[in-house]
Amino acid sequence: MHFATSVATLIASAALSSAATVNFWTLDNVQRTIYFTCNPGNADIASVTVDGSKNTTVTFPDTWQGNFYAVKEGDANVPGMLGEVNFGSWHGLTYFDVSAIVDPNDKDNVKQMFPAESYEPMSGCVNFPCNNAYYLPDDIQTKATQESDLICTLGSGSVAHTFTEEQ
Ligand SMILES: *[C@@H]1O[C@H](CO)[C@@H](O)[C@H](O)[C@H]1NC(C)=O
Repeated sequence: MHFATSVATLIASAALSSAATVNFWTLDNVQRTIYFTCNPGNADIASVTVDGSKNTTVTFPDTWQGNFYAVKEGDANVPGMLGEVNFGSWHGLTYFDVSAIVDPNDKDNVKQMFPAESYEPMSGCVNFPCNNAYYLPDDIQTKATQESDLICTLGSGSVAHTFTEEQ
C-alpha cells in the first residue's frame, strides 16, 4: 500500500465514513474461500466461501485496515494476489489496491477492485500482469475513493465495463 498523491479533489468533499463493505463477485464457476488478514489493532474478519451463484457482501468496521486473498476449493491455504483495503483512512477516504507483492503468479483469484457505485478508479488486471496492480513497494498504484463500498472480482473473465485507463 502506497498512498497516491493525487487525492486532493476527493479530500475536499470526502463524505463521512459509514459501514464499509466489499462485494465479492465471482466471474467463473470455481468456489473460493476468502481469507482476511487484519493490520494490528483491527478486528478479525471471518473467512467466507463465495461462488458465482451469487455475490457475497462482507461488512467491515468503518476504519478497518488489512487485506484478503482467495483460495480455490481444494487448494492449500496460501496467500496469493491480495486485495488491500484501508477504510475510513486519511481524510476519511477509502484506499485500496490489488497487490501482487506476495505472489504475482496467482492470476485468477483476486482480480479487480473498484468502488461499487462509480466503478472508478479500478485496481487490478483482467489479465495479469498489467500496469494497474501493485508489484513493487514503491509502485504508486493505491487508489482512493470517497465510497466505502467496494467490489472485488474473482476468477477468470472480466466485467462488462470499460474502465478509464489511469496513469
Ligand atoms: C454481482 O454484482 C454485479 C455488479 O452489481 C452484477 O452485475 C452481477 O450480476 C452480480 N452477480 C450475481 C450473480 O448476482
